[in-house]
Amino acid sequence: MSEAPKKEESKQKIVGQPLDRVDGRLKVTGGARYAAEFTVPNMLYGVLVQSTVANGRARRIDTSAAQRAPGVIAVITHANMPPVERPSNPPSGESIPLLDPQVRYSGQNLAVVVANTFEQAEHAAALVHIEYDAQAPSVDMEARLKDAFTPQTGNRPAESKRGDYAAAVKSAPPRVEQVYRTPTEHHNPMEPHATIAMWRGNKLTVYDATQGVANVADNLAELFGLEDDDVHVIDPFVGGGFGCKGQSWPHTPLAAMAARAVGRPVKIVLTRKQMFTSNGHRPETRQATTLGAGADGKLTAIAHHAYGHTSQADEFMEPTGSPVGMLYSCANVEIQHKLVRLNIGAPTYMRAPGESSGSFSIETAMDELAASLGVDPIELRLRNYAEIDESTGHPFSSKSLRACYSRAAEAFGWAKRNPKPRSMRDGRWLVGYGMATATYPANYRPAGAKAIMLADGSVQILCGTQDLGTGTYTILTQIAAETLGVAPQNVRVMIGDSRYPRAPTSGGSCSATSTGSAVQAAAQALRGRLIGYTAQDEASPLWNVKSSEIETKDGRLSAKSDPSKTVTYADVMKRYGRRSVEQEAFARPGIERGPAAGGAPTGTEPADKGKSQAYSMHGFGAQFCEVRVDPELGIIRLARWTGAFALGKVLNAKTLRSQLEGGIIWGIGMGLQEETLMDHRYGRFVNTNLAEYHVPVNADVPPIELILVEEEDKLVSPIGAKGAGEIGITGAAAAIGNAVYHATGKRIRALPITLDKLL
Ligand code: MOS
Repeated sequence: MSEAPKKEESKQKIVGQPLDRVDGRLKVTGGARYAAEFTVPNMLYGVLVQSTVANGRARRIDTSAAQRAPGVIAVITHANMPPVERPSNPPSGESIPLLDPQVRYSGQNLAVVVANTFEQAEHAAALVHIEYDAQAPSVDMEARLKDAFTPQTGNRPAESKRGDYAAAVKSAPPRVEQVYRTPTEHHNPMEPHATIAMWRGNKLTVYDATQGVANVADNLAELFGLEDDDVHVIDPFVGGGFGCKGQSWPHTPLAAMAARAVGRPVKIVLTRKQMFTSNGHRPETRQATTLGAGADGKLTAIAHHAYGHTSQADEFMEPTGSPVGMLYSCANVEIQHKLVRLNIGAPTYMRAPGESSGSFSIETAMDELAASLGVDPIELRLRNYAEIDESTGHPFSSKSLRACYSRAAEAFGWAKRNPKPRSMRDGRWLVGYGMATATYPANYRPAGAKAIMLADGSVQILCGTQDLGTGTYTILTQIAAETLGVAPQNVRVMIGDSRYPRAPTSGGSCSATSTGSAVQAAAQALRGRLIGYTAQDEASPLWNVKSSEIETKDGRLSAKSDPSKTVTYADVMKRYGRRSVEQEAFARPGIERGPAAGGAPTGTEPADKGKSQAYSMHGFGAQFCEVRVDPELGIIRLARWTGAFALGKVLNAKTLRSQLEGGIIWGIGMGLQEETLMDHRYGRFVNTNLAEYHVPVNADVPPIELILVEEEDKLVSPIGAKGAGEIGITGAAAAIGNAVYHATGKRIRALPITLDKLL
């Protein structure tokens, strides 16, 4: 991947190495404890009762039978709910009241049953009898487009433009004018949402399955009117999040409310079916896309007019236009997003919100343009290559997209493609090659961390971040080990606790850059302090050696010029009689970066909002795939995949590859399988289980070849890396659709691309 480093140097470098997950053993032995797996003394079980209609009012909630059922301690409804503060600007993913007789969507929480055992609570929940005044639900976005409105509250702008789109399309008729659609999707992490809440007086402790312990703590403090220090949120391991754990949903405060009402700890775990109700989803989108271009393929005009659905009380916008505005050089661009309110739960961020769904439209449209002009799809993209981010006018902090295209094309064997659709076959199967561009913002948000040296020379790192299963524990271990010059096995990383130094929600692919930089800063400060101790000590072998002349390696401090002058960290600690020495540091973006560009808001947005942003920061990649399509049956199989990505410095080659593979597999699901289906009569999602909500299984995933293009970007973050959690999904569905077009000559503009659409 890069030139072979000198041997001595390679021994020293820990960051970048494909270190196995430091939490791997705990995970495979069952030692990693997830939120629902904690038990606390005296704990009760809560089960949610949810609405079965999508629009109307719960006229009567009869809890008498449930209250008489064995083991039941309490049944809480809107009528007997303890009061909570109503935040002025609701921080939760869903701004409707926790329990409310007004029903705005199917699956809305109407009651919580608390019992001695889970089985008792579940049985009693089935005995809660609800009578509704129900009205016909409005759940058809397409039928309500005329009622659409422009959202005001999103964290990305709903409208943007440059040049004069209208004039540009008037002077030359558009070459592509199509509507692209993406369906409602649900996150479905393996670990469902779960909360255990317990009160001691006015102090609240919560185990919660979340992407942001600090954010959950903030929300609970606000709802219950508590001091920040009185809320403690713990989540050492997270079984996937993908955005649905990026905000907190009603079940978390409901567990706390129930625990307060009954005076005992309460655990609520959502069922897989409930994971399709009150905890977010990717909204359906309708993206009308127009491309104007000269005969040479140079873009002259781009329009992206998108609709998405939102709930009755929220304004969540899937920013599909985000990649459209920055991906290509084009003088005249017009981007609009509108929302349609439906009787549906609040939608939310889902892995690469905007970039995954928006890249499907723009990258399919580019393929359509290439086909209509007879220009190679890669060549078309190179002719429109954006040298700067024209949506902001700022230069890119780094952009290695040309290398991604060429390296991936070379490895994939793109040159062997006959551009004519239906021209390539393997036996009875039609063969198609497709490609698309991948991109995602390179986010970096304020984060704190503490580094502690213990008496034996081992290191503890405390950081209020969380590991979604992506490798956060591991990369923080590597960064601390390398910065301090100790072995990774002598570093213990402790995260997932709101009492640790505050770190952002693990969303928007920001954790590696943000917490990595904070840990590096804390470790540097600790190293400096310990060097300071020893350099000022007349009895130390390093007395009077300048700190810049001291190197730290293998748990030792040594003079660079004279390796015999050396002392171990443990010796330093002993000499000073210290059981521990700690340094806390706070890393935050400077003025080279403007407001956060993507993903869930984290509660630690850049402090320099409003100041001029000097650089546009994004990761880039190129996705190539080969499909086989059965010409009679329409069956689509992926044969192979090649992706090249440039994401700044590699922190761990193994976990990075896993992130990218995982993202591509999500893209395969998005392209071919994932879709939550709505029953329009009842306003209810129907395939609310993993048997009918299809995600790729191993047999659906072809061999994936990954190429990591060398890059280092210290403008993005002091550690030189860009986040990798989301970019793998972007462009993937378009690459599949483009390959299906190449194989069959049929253009499918609505995801997922299923065989019925091909026949
Ligand atoms: Mo991610 S969808 O920003 O958790």
